[in-house]
Amino acid sequence: MRTKLVVGNWKMSPTSREGAALVEAFIKQVDYLWDVDIVVCPPYVAIPRVRELVKDTQVKLGAQDVFWEDSGAFTGKVSARMLSEFCCDYCIVGHSEARGRFGGYEPPIGTREYFSETDETVNRKIKALLYYSISPILCVGETKPERSVGETEKVVERQVRGALAGVDPSELYTFVVAYEPVWAIGTGDTCDPGEAERVCAFIRGVVAGVADQDLAESVRILYGGSVKPENARELFGQANIDGGLVGGASLDADGFARIVMSA
Ligand code: PGA
Repeated sequence: MRTKLVVGNWKMSPTSREGAALVEAFIKQVDYLWDVDIVVCPPYVAIPRVRELVKDTQVKLGAQDVFWEDSGAFTGKVSARMLSEFCCDYCIVGHSEARGRFGGYEPPIGTREYFSETDETVNRKIKALLYYSISPILCVGETKPERSVGETEKVVERQVRGALAGVDPSELYTFVVAYEPVWAIGTGDTCDPGEAERVCAFIRGVVAGVADQDLAESVRILYGGSVKPENARELFGQANIDGGLVGGASLDADGFARIVMSA
């Protein structure tokens, strides 16, 4: 039996002070809920303050990205070694925004390369996180043009296989996958629950092929892309959807608490 997991991805939204107020208001509403795993992923600069506030609660801490080297001349980067010092239990990797693929927003020509995550960099990040016992939350998902030409399965399979290349399956028991169709992120255009279930079941099959059936059965597969209090229950009720990766709706303490309660 997989425990449901709901992850709030705060993106580049709250400052440290705003994040502290958000998590304080949120914790008050969920402090009796111990049968669902809850994670918040603040921007790096908010992690120290949020960490103090979640310390003795059931809310776990995650980061939104990581760099694969431990230390060195990598200006602006944060390593898994640094995240482990702040007790980050989880870290998002391969988010479509980091891959330069946005849902409702087309970045201006010439700026995409600033976000140029690839399957290879995702793979390096996953290895670095596992070394420090931080659970990777691997984001995969197709764009609208890819879906319209029937390439959804091909894209997510390539992303999962690329991310896990050379990773020992025995290290993957805390690994999480988030199926996030790019066209559903931040657009309000949520994927139909039956279709999200179909793709999540497909992803579980890919994990079984890369590792084994036992691992595939235990790995949590989340859905992300315009999850709201109104649609969370139906999405999380699907057999292969083990919770959600929630962006915009995690910035409202009441709404995020309602989404967690749906799980
Ligand atoms: P959204 O974002 O819930 O705002 O669509 C989800 C995500 O990007 O993880």
